[in-house]
Amino acid sequence: MSFLKSNIFSKRDKKNGGPSIEGPPRHIAIILDGNGRWAKKRGLPRTAGHAAGAETFRRIATYCKDIGVEYLTVYAFSTENWKRPEEEISAIMRLLNKYLVEACETMEKDKIRLKVLGDASILPSELRELISKTAAISKKYDGFQANVCINYGGRDEIVRAAIKYAKDFADGRAKDLTEEKFGSYLYSAGIPDPDIVIRPGGEIRLSNFLIWEAAYSELIFTDVLWPDFTSKDIDKAIAEYKSRDRRYGGIKV
Ligand code: IPE
Ligand code: IPE
Ligand code: MG
Repeated sequence: MSFLKSNIFSKRDKKNGGPSIEGPPRHIAIILDGNGRWAKKRGLPRTAGHAAGAETFRRIATYCKDIGVEYLTVYAFSTENWKRPEEEISAIMRLLNKYLVEACETMEKDKIRLKVLGDASILPSELRELISKTAAISKKYDGFQANVCINYGGRDEIVRAAIKYAKDFADGRAKDLTEEKFGSYLYSAGIPDPDIVIRPGGEIRLSNFLIWEAAYSELIFTDVLWPDFTSKDIDKAIAEYKSRDRRYGGIKV
């Protein structure tokens, strides 16, 4: 499978005088999928795929920042991924730890803000400390922000937000609920909705990723496995996004 319908959309755009969406997208979200299959193809353990995937994230985050994207949100570990074998989970946690240790050392120099989205309370304590540390460093400056979703589930995020809102309502701290107000209770509070959600790895589903925030995102699916994903794949996804007609339920007059 390749980027869906790109030819049809590009033709229509040419007729309309060029791409309808100017500049880079503000927010790109990616489901980091295909690490296990990448490793299997090479006769390597799945954990080698996760290590390769972590390197890809580093490259793609830098690229997104360089081309002027403001937010990159990646799905690294879901609330459902605890179903995996113990060794695989530990290896992923070790990799996340390693990544965050390095991030603490380099993010100020590289001007990359890093936020972890998800329920950190059940993560290993060292990882929790690193998450607080990166959040504290990120508060010190503005600029590109990478959001890493760890122990994140879209439904879990919505339920937690509902519980928090209900408490605030009961305590008299919150009144009528609007979509905007509800958004302020989510992990993604203050972050604009993703313009694009990219899923590498060939599966065509969201797997519980940003189900509130992606209500009007442009979805792009590709067979490329995440460790093989390059800046060219980001360019392709952006070109596809720019050829789309975002109507938000309206019509073109
Ligand atoms: C994505 O790669 C990483 C995580 C979900 C943690 P997978 O591990 O799902 O790789 P595949 O889908 O089995 O190839
Ligand atoms: C989605 O990938 C979760 C992450 C990438 C973190 P999965 O590999 O877990 O999703 P399914 O099982 O294919 O839906
Ligand atoms: Mg997978």
